[in-house]
Order: sequence, then C-alpha cells, then structure tokens
Amino acid sequence: MSGVNGIRSAFLDYFGSNGHEIVASSPLVPRNDPTLMFTNAGMVQFKNVFTGLEKRDYARAVTAQKCVRAGGKHNDLDNVGYTARHHTFFEMLGNFSFGDYFKDVAIELAWNLITREFGLDPSKLLVTVYHTDDDAAAFWKKIAGLPDDRIIRIATHDNFWAMGDTGPCGPCSEIFYDHGEHIPGGPPGSPDEDGDRFIEIWNLVFMQFEQVTPDERIDLPRPSIDTGMGLERIAAVMQGKHDNYDIDLFQALIKASVEATGVKAEGAARASHRVIADHLRASSFLIADGVLPSNEGRGYVLRRIMRRAMRHAQLLGASEPLMWRLVPALVQEMGQAYPELVRGQPLITETLQLEEKRFRKTLARGLGLLEEATQSFGSGDTLDGETAFKLYDTYGFPLDLTQDALRQRGIGVDTGGFNTAMERQKAEARASWAGSGEAAAEAIWFQLREKLGATEFLGYSSEAAEGVISALVHDGAEVPAAKKGDDVAVILNQTPFYGESGGQVGDTGVIRGDDFEIAVSDTQKKGDGLFVHYGKVMSGEVKPGAAAELEVDHRRRSQIRANHSATHLLHEALREVLGGHVAQKGSLVAPERLRFDFSHPKPIGDAELSEIEAIANEIVLQNSAVSTRLMAVDEAIESGAMALFGEKYGDEVRVVTMGTALRGGKAGKPYSVELCGGTHVNATGDIGLVRVVSEGAVSSGVRRLEALTGAAARDHLAEQDRRLRQMAAALKVSPQDAPGRLDAVLEERRRMERELAEARKQLALGGGVSSAGGTSEKEDVGGVGFLGRVVSGVAPKDLKSLADEGKKSLGSGVTVFVGTSDDGKASVVVGVTEDLTQRFSAVDLVRVASQALGGKGGGGRPDMAQAGGPDAAKANDAVSAVRAALAG
Ligand code: ALA
Repeated sequence: MSGVNGIRSAFLDYFGSNGHEIVASSPLVPRNDPTLMFTNAGMVQFKNVFTGLEKRDYARAVTAQKCVRAGGKHNDLDNVGYTARHHTFFEMLGNFSFGDYFKDVAIELAWNLITREFGLDPSKLLVTVYHTDDDAAAFWKKIAGLPDDRIIRIATHDNFWAMGDTGPCGPCSEIFYDHGEHIPGGPPGSPDEDGDRFIEIWNLVFMQFEQVTPDERIDLPRPSIDTGMGLERIAAVMQGKHDNYDIDLFQALIKASVEATGVKAEGAARASHRVIADHLRASSFLIADGVLPSNEGRGYVLRRIMRRAMRHAQLLGASEPLMWRLVPALVQEMGQAYPELVRGQPLITETLQLEEKRFRKTLARGLGLLEEATQSFGSGDTLDGETAFKLYDTYGFPLDLTQDALRQRGIGVDTGGFNTAMERQKAEARASWAGSGEAAAEAIWFQLREKLGATEFLGYSSEAAEGVISALVHDGAEVPAAKKGDDVAVILNQTPFYGESGGQVGDTGVIRGDDFEIAVSDTQKKGDGLFVHYGKVMSGEVKPGAAAELEVDHRRRSQIRANHSATHLLHEALREVLGGHVAQKGSLVAPERLRFDFSHPKPIGDAELSEIEAIANEIVLQNSAVSTRLMAVDEAIESGAMALFGEKYGDEVRVVTMGTALRGGKAGKPYSVELCGGTHVNATGDIGLVRVVSEGAVSSGVRRLEALTGAAARDHLAEQDRRLRQMAAALKVSPQDAPGRLDAVLEERRRMERELAEARKQLALGGGVSSAGGTSEKEDVGGVGFLGRVVSGVAPKDLKSLADEGKKSLGSGVTVFVGTSDDGKASVVVGVTEDLTQRFSAVDLVRVASQALGGKGGGGRPDMAQAGGPDAAKANDAVSAVRAALAG
C-alpha cells in the first residue's frame, strides 16, 4: 500500500467507510472562483458549500485534489527542484465536514488513520495548534494521548489558514513528523524550525470564518472541517524517505528523464531532473484542464513553468525537445487515477513539443547573451533590469527563468529595473496607437486593455463561469456604476462569452451579481484581447469590482456551434465536389443559419448541390469527436489545415479536425482540418442535419451557400413537405405522383394554348377569309383590293400569318390587321401583294396605321411591315387611315 497510488486509494477508502462521499478532484482552473488563478487546495471546490451558498446532498466528503501553486498567494515556483518538498503541482488528500463534525472527530479520524491504517509511529508525531485554541489542544491530549510538549501553540499566521485574500478561513492544527536526530532542524515554533527534521504532513483547518473582503471577516453558518495532507509528503514518510523526490512516483519520472537524456541524476543534474519531473506534472495537468501556453494570465504561468523545465532540459544537454517524450511515463504513473491525462495525452504531447521547439529557437542565443552580460559577475552581483527585459522580450525568457539561470552562481536580478523597462515598452505602444485613425477612435479599449490585461476566454470548455467586473463603459468612457435601464459595455477578468470573430457572431446571455442583472445582447472583441459585453442593466446597480455569474444563452450557443461545424463540413464537401479552387471568401455563423461565400466561377447544378449536402451529412452521421489542437501556424498549414488567405493569425492557432474521409486520396484520414478560433460541436452528430437552402452569386466569381442545421433544418424540410402535400392535394394525387401529374398538367396546358391560338386565328380570319374563298369584306379602294380588320386575342406574332392569308385571299391588293390586347395596346400588320409593291410600300402604310394608334415608327419590308401603338381604342381608325391612304 505504500506506493503513491495505494496511499491515495487507502485515504479515500478510509474516509469513504467513515461516511464521507468520495468526490472527484475538481479541475485546476476553478470555475467557481474568479479570484483564484489555480485550484490550490482541496477545499476550493467546496468554497460555496462552506459559506452556505451551495447545498450538496452530503455533509462529509473526501477528495484527492489536483493542486497547482505557482503564481498568486501560494507560489512555490522559485524553489522547485532545489528543495526536498516544493512542487508546482501536487495532490492534496483531504476530508471535509460541512457543518457536520468538528474538531474532536476531525482529530480522531486523522489520528486513527495515520497511526493505525498507515502505521506511523506515534512517538514520531507532534502537533501544533493556534495559540488561543484550547479546545484543539485538549482534544489532542485526550484522543491521541500526546504530552504537552508535543502540542505546540503557535501564534502566527502559520496556524491560521486562508484560501486567499478572501474566502473561508480559520485556525488550524498541523501534524508534524520527526524524521530523526540525524537531520538538522528544530520543532515548529523553535528558532531553527526551518530545518528539515520536523516536517508538516497534515493540516486540519477548523473552518469558522469567511473573509468577505480583505478587511471584513464574518462567521460561517456552521463550524466546518477542511483538511489537507500532501500526498507526496505522506508517501515519503511511509516509504522511509526524507525527500519527496525519492518516492516511487517521482523516481519513475526522473528515471524516464535520465533515460531520455542519458544524464544521471547526480550533482547539478539532480536539480534539473527534479525540475523536469515536477514541471512535467504541472504542465501536463494544466494542459489537460484546458490551459494553453500564452503571454498572459494562466497561460503565461504555464509557459513559465514549461520554459523553466525546458531550460533545464537544455542544461542536461538534450539536443532535441525532451518534455513531450516523458508524457508516457507520467500517464503510466497517474493516468489511472486521472483519466483526463489519458484523454488529453495527444494535446499534452503536441503542446509540449511545440513550445519546446519554439523556445529552443531563441534559448541558445538568449543564454549566450546572458552569459556575456554576466561574464565578469561573481556571487552577490546583480544583473540589470534592461538585460533581463531584453531576454524576456526578445528571447522569451520569463523573469523567473533568468533568475533561475543565475541562481546557482549567486547572481540576482534587478526586478525593479525589469519592471521599469516593461512599463516603458507599454507606454511606447500606447503612444503608437494614439496616432492611427481607427485605433484612435477605439482608444478607450486599448487603454482598458493595457490597464486590465486581456480577458481570459473560458468559453471553449464552458458556457457558465464566474468573473469579476473590471470596468464599465458607456458612450466611449469608463463609468463608475450603471443602474437599471442603462446600456452598458461590461469588461470582466474572464468570460465564457464568445466575442464575434471569424464570422461567428458574439454570444448573448446574462451577467448576474448579488443585486444586479445585465442582459447581454452581444459580445465583441476589442483592443487586442478585450471581450466587451454589450448589454442593458435589467435590475439593481452594478459597479466595477463586483463578482458576477456569467451565463451564455446555451440554446443559442449550441445552434451556433452546430452551424460553425457544418460550415467546415460544407467547405470541405464543396472542395471535394467542385474542386480545390474553392476557397472561403467570407462566412456568417449565426444561431439561425449559416452563410458561406467561396470562389467558384459558375452556378452549382442541382446534382452537385445534392452531393455536397449528402457528403456533409455523411460526416454528421459518423458522429465522431471533433478535436481541437493548438499548433504553430506554419506547422498547421504544412499539415494540410485550411487557412484563410489574408487572415491574421497569431503564432499559435487552433486547429479543428472533424470526421474521417471515406473516399479519394484522403480516405481514412481526417475529413475537415481547419484553422479556427470558433466554437464547435463535441461530436459531428450534434449537428443533427445539414440542409442547403440556397445557392447564388455574390459577385463575379464568388458564390454563396446558405444552410441550416439541426432543428432549423428539420423545420425547413417539414415545411417543404407540407407544401408538397398541399400541391398533391390540389392535383388530387399522392405526393409521389405529384411531379408526374404536374408534368402532365403542364403539357396539357401547352397543347391547349396551341389549340386556342389556332382557333383564335381561324376566328379572326372569320367569314371565310381563307384560301377557301372570297369575302364580302373585301373592298375595292380606287381600283386596289383591300382587306382591313380589327382582331382581338391574337398574339402579335400571329398577325403576320393573318396578313399572309389576307394577301392570298386578295390575290392582288393591300391588307391590314390591327390586333388589340387586354392591356389596351395595339399591334398592326400591313401586307402588300408583290404586284403592288412598286406603288405602295407596306412600311409607309403601317406608319400611317401606327400614327392613328398613337404610336410612331414601325418597320419591315415593302410587302409586309409591322408596328404598334398605345391606343387600342383607335383600332378602327387605323384601318380607315390605311384605306384613306390607298384612296390617295
Ligand atoms: N486547506 C488547507 C490547506 O491547504 C487544508 O492546507
């Protein structure tokens, strides 16, 4: 049982069998506490249970909690590697009572576990209590039988535990283990307590208060218990080791590091291997919990940890990136207890490798510069801040890495000078924005960005989180408060709200505090990293500094996610069906639909469109996990990820992969691989259904598809179906037979139109003006045969054939047909038989007729001419006018 994994389970089982709920470790990024950078103790996930804000259906709990202490109140980074017990990442074993048992039971449970279950020798144990805590002292005496000289009263904050500047807190009692006389050091409270002989193994906190603000402390609703025992420390004691790095888990990691570098863990290399082993754990667990290296906030702490380890890898002479090669050893040791490590293994491996590759590009040159700058230095000297800043700015050396590099030579760093140099650079950047047009109008955002830092975006992994309001803006200026009815732009330290970018619209939702509520109608990114929430105060009054719960409109965001993922699938399907020339020209990813513009020279045929839609839906049905990785831009593009031309990418990009290609050269490989900062579905099946609803031109060479997904796509299909049924009912057939029936109806209609035209023509020629014989309507006008008639319902194009018939019937003469139409206009055709074209021109005569109809012009040949006129009421006048013209 003395292996780390065995001790962890024994602890959980012991408290489990004593009525405690076994609760899983919470993530390293606290979701319920915006003031805390990382989960730094087991009680963090229960913070609101202690204060009474949150209720659980158990009053006792036990956990093995992942913790990181690097940055913030509990910062161990600087010492890690050089001491026996400092870690950036560690596991805290703890039992908790939420108003259930208090000091006596806590002491009894702890004492029995370590002396009976874990078998520690009671004579090697001693405890401390807060100087005024007589109860605790009495219980130790009674329950553990400890003599007074092994119950030490401490008056300092060492025995008063607080989570941070605010939060639950209380006096505590610590259990110490005496590693024996051979190690220098005195008991706690003695002048040489800092020695290594007496080691604290377990801290029992008697939670009684809540620090509401740094100046105000109130009582908790009920006294509670929070305990914390470092797993690595208790393992060391149980494995007869004095140094945490000698326990089985660390030895396995150090062994992997030794094997990978071929350098034994001796001399100066010893610290390096320890740094690597410790930082491997912190980095891997942080990445598994969604933190990625960056230049700000949590991401920067991660980067500092990673780079510190990477410098030590370089010190060990590793010529290639090392850290990523150690991940399997870590997963082997801890993967069973923490399955997120197994799930995250590919992301952890890639992120470590990428960071180390990138850092290596400047590491050697940076170290060279450092070497040069400190050549003549001796112990006690100080490196100037300017050089430290140059190392930071140009070579990516976090300040603590520079400090670490000089530490063994006893050289310090002028941190004041470093900060001054940093300030100066910011001031220069500020001056440069002030000048430029658009940026000047947006100056408020840049100012806030500089003052507050970038907003941390939590929205890839969650849609609800807590944040602290850092600024309120109204009409382009910061305001000290906003009250009910006010429109306001809200900035917080962190947010799950997506800021509009890459075609994806901004999130909406609610920001809620103790006594205010803001309805957020849009979120935009401003000032290079600031997320601005535009909203209206619905109730109460809000001020900067207030803590708030942020809740994204979940339904809307889910639709957006589905539409965004569908956009990627359509993009790839378009390329597959139409060809590789298809490139994205723009997109809109909104909750109700998606729009995708792309280069393609001509309309997409129906068959192609159906194929594109079918392919996208094929990937939807694969229902495979959508993966997101962080990569260097050039590597991502090299690996075939689609990038948008002209888009500005940072050094690192998110690469979103979905589906498996079923055909072609890519068969078996990932289907869609794109650089994308948007939010996506977890699995392609979440898209539900992809339905293209329109295809058209945007500009020359650019086409646009519009599509729906999920319920919207289904509704659209249902509506189409309803229309089809309606049509079928009107045609009196089943929907299956409707198209055939409709074809038949249309054909029939065409036939009837033809017949009707023929009938009208016959009717127009009326009284036998046909090849068959003469008519009384034929006239003789000054010796010239004349046939003139007004007809209605004859298409203008058919008038000519009437005129031909008329000429035939006259044998020799002039004929005029005026056709009137329903819209009140008229057409006229004049025909002149061949023998008379020398005397009369049809063109001249048709002009005469046209004039009578209120028109002008007309044209044709001497034997046949046509014209029109706006006034059909004058049709008879037109006939008369031609007759008069013949009469001369
Ligand atoms: N929360 C206490 C600690 O971290 C147990 O030491």
